[in-house]
Amino acid sequence: METHKQLTIGLFGFGVVGEGLYRVLQQTPSLNARIKKVCIKNYGKKRNGPASLFTADKYDLLNDRDINVIVEVIDDADAAFTIVSTALKNGKDVVSASKKMIAGHLPELLELQQQTGRSFLYESAACASIPVIRNLEEYYDNDLLHSIKAIVNGSTNFILTKIFEEGLDFKQALLLAQQAGFAERNPQLDVEGYDAVNKWTFLLTHAYGIMERPASILFSGIQHIHAADAEVARAKRQEIKLVAQAQKLKNGKVAAFVLPQFVKQDDPLALVKNEYNGVVIESAFADKQFFYGKGAGSFPTASAILSDISALRYHYKYEYKKLNHHLPHELSNDFFLRVYISFDDASVIPRERFEWIEEWHAREGREYLVGVISHRELKSAEWWKENNVSLILAPDPVIEDLELRKLKRKSLELAGVL
Ligand code: HSE
Repeated sequence: METHKQLTIGLFGFGVVGEGLYRVLQQTPSLNARIKKVCIKNYGKKRNGPASLFTADKYDLLNDRDINVIVEVIDDADAAFTIVSTALKNGKDVVSASKKMIAGHLPELLELQQQTGRSFLYESAACASIPVIRNLEEYYDNDLLHSIKAIVNGSTNFILTKIFEEGLDFKQALLLAQQAGFAERNPQLDVEGYDAVNKWTFLLTHAYGIMERPASILFSGIQHIHAADAEVARAKRQEIKLVAQAQKLKNGKVAAFVLPQFVKQDDPLALVKNEYNGVVIESAFADKQFFYGKGAGSFPTASAILSDISALRYHYKYEYKKLNHHLPHELSNDFFLRVYISFDDASVIPRERFEWIEEWHAREGREYLVGVISHRELKSAEWWKENNVSLILAPDPVIEDLELRKLKRKSLELAGVL
């Protein structure tokens, strides 16, 4: 029987996540993994650990032959890529939590894994404590996975919960998310959807074998949501969430986007509050399954890193099954979305670019409409990101067979139903 590998770890980063991992490892001696050295940028700062543990020289870790695992939890994506690629080339297995780095360098990272034969694991990089990558990788066959819909950013979900349920203002809510260690050092990455779309980029690889850059995916954050939108949501008995969604279309391609969305109360994502994340997977025979857990924070993130470290003991690697053993899917541009849009000034709304508009509520002050628009239009246009316009998807927003819907609508109009 093969014995479990002894793990000697070099850790990069000792912030919220790095220190969390250090503490968690101290509480799990059975894992037989020890941190030999920690590399930090700010060497002068006082740390909760013995001084001999720390260095500012990355080569103290990368060139140490004793160290067989590099764990990298820093927030500088360029530095993280240098560390990860050097570590793999130096024959070390790597565990990383750097979402932005992974999303931006996936093709290169795949090649490095193939060249070196080393493991590169990053379960903590998406949905922190929820084992979503390993589940997508190991369990769901490409053909069976109809859709995946998720809340993948803890900070924005925390902010929405605090604003809409506890009446805090945006600044107060963001400050609390920062104090709790949920937010990125630059919180715009959370608020404007960059962090969510980065995570979605590599989740799409594990779900469908799609290998795209984050810029190819339609996204926005919660920055434009208006107090009046919350009122509309309340009146409809719905929630507003930042939802990452991917759905297989009849043409075999995948519709994917990250946008605010109205979520009905019977949708499991409506249950996801504060820094929790949730993933709803719909497959051919199992119907819907729901994964739920903390998506940000020190120990929840450390727990996923710990699980990756543990998996290295039995030489676990991602096989990128959907890329290598199936016909990988492609992203589609040919679908339509049902959207709610609120605005102060109706003249900034290009009505002619909608397929149709089904509701227009003109009130004192803020107005809103509900209509159907092509993904292509939203992907290429900027008007919905400017001029105090707020765009939120309707529940079940994807419309793929537009002709059919149009005809149906026309017949309903003719019959006087609409
Ligand atoms: N800023 C991230 C979030 C941290 O709020 O989800 C976890 O990736």
